[in-house]
Amino acid sequence: MNILIVGGAGYIGSHMVKLLSVAGHQVVVFDNLSKGYRDAVLEGEFIEGDLANLEQLERLFSSSRFDAVMHFASFIEVGESVRDPAKYYRNNFSNTQNLLDSMVAHDVGHFIFSSTAAIFGEPRYTPIDEVHAKSPINPYGRSKFMVEQMLEDYDKAHGLKSVCLRYFNAAGADVEGDLGERHNPETHLIPLVLQAASGRRDAIAIYGNDYDTADGTCVRDYIHVQDLCAAHLLALDSLRKTGNSNQFNLGNGLGFSVRQVIDCAREVTGREIKVVNEERRAGDPAVLVADAARAKTVLGWKPSLSSLEKIIETAWNWEQSFFSH
Ligand code: UFG
Repeated sequence: MNILIVGGAGYIGSHMVKLLSVAGHQVVVFDNLSKGYRDAVLEGEFIEGDLANLEQLERLFSSSRFDAVMHFASFIEVGESVRDPAKYYRNNFSNTQNLLDSMVAHDVGHFIFSSTAAIFGEPRYTPIDEVHAKSPINPYGRSKFMVEQMLEDYDKAHGLKSVCLRYFNAAGADVEGDLGERHNPETHLIPLVLQAASGRRDAIAIYGNDYDTADGTCVRDYIHVQDLCAAHLLALDSLRKTGNSNQFNLGNGLGFSVRQVIDCAREVTGREIKVVNEERRAGDPAVLVADAARAKTVLGWKPSLSSLEKIIETAWNWEQSFFSH
């Protein structure tokens, strides 16, 4: 297949490009490099471009015939989305609409969308399955949920078939050491903990130790980036076979607290990791754990790299190899 990867120079997108090429597909990456890195695109054709630019989009879709589109190009910082909602609605929603309109105009009928656990808001029960109420509590989550709703409407009106993949906490790095997480600024727990282990930062801050959890710190469902990518490939196969749009929650179904993550990182790295306790971060639910039964049953998805040790080990290899020179 010839697959367009929007945002293929970013963290998850770049791992996806590698997996698709290994699986024998052709890829074209379209990325404005606002967050991604040209050297993270290891395979395929690279086109620097922006979803806000309708002329670039027209040229892109006129130049190649795509069998499917995967869309990874979004802003992801919850706090920033509260301070600057326009940035999120413009990029995550309006620019996605530009992309969908180009697909409809050029008769490209299969779309895989990177959605998020943030569409659910404060959990009403746990683990969270697909039918859980969608009640996002910040502009980031709302911008993603609005795309999910737009996709339902585009399916009805134009027959555009899509799969929404709701990631819980994407983490880890390519097991062969070719790729990893390079966010700037970094806000995610595991890379920050590993920066504290390597000495690139003094300590890791724990945001809140008075949550209603076993050790008082927030519990999250960490899922290895390559397991997430494997789910995209299965979702695409299923979409092409069944022709049915669908939504899947992607996580391990296991929760680890912030303290458990730090302890595991101490074990894996053998390093001291200094901790400082800080105030709660606004908008953090106490527990976010996925019920991924639908992805397992319908797609045959089996996460295989997702023990916390493996996630941290691959992220640590990346931290040491990439950032040590
Ligand atoms: N945390 C710390 N210290 C840090 C960084 C994070 O204690 O320095 C804590 C957070 O408070 C949270 C947990 O570690 O309890 C995980 O935080 P991350 O920022 O790594 O991840 P989030 O769970 O906040 O965010 C992830 C995705 C978002 C998505 C969100 C909800 O990265 O894109 O899940 O689905 F919106």
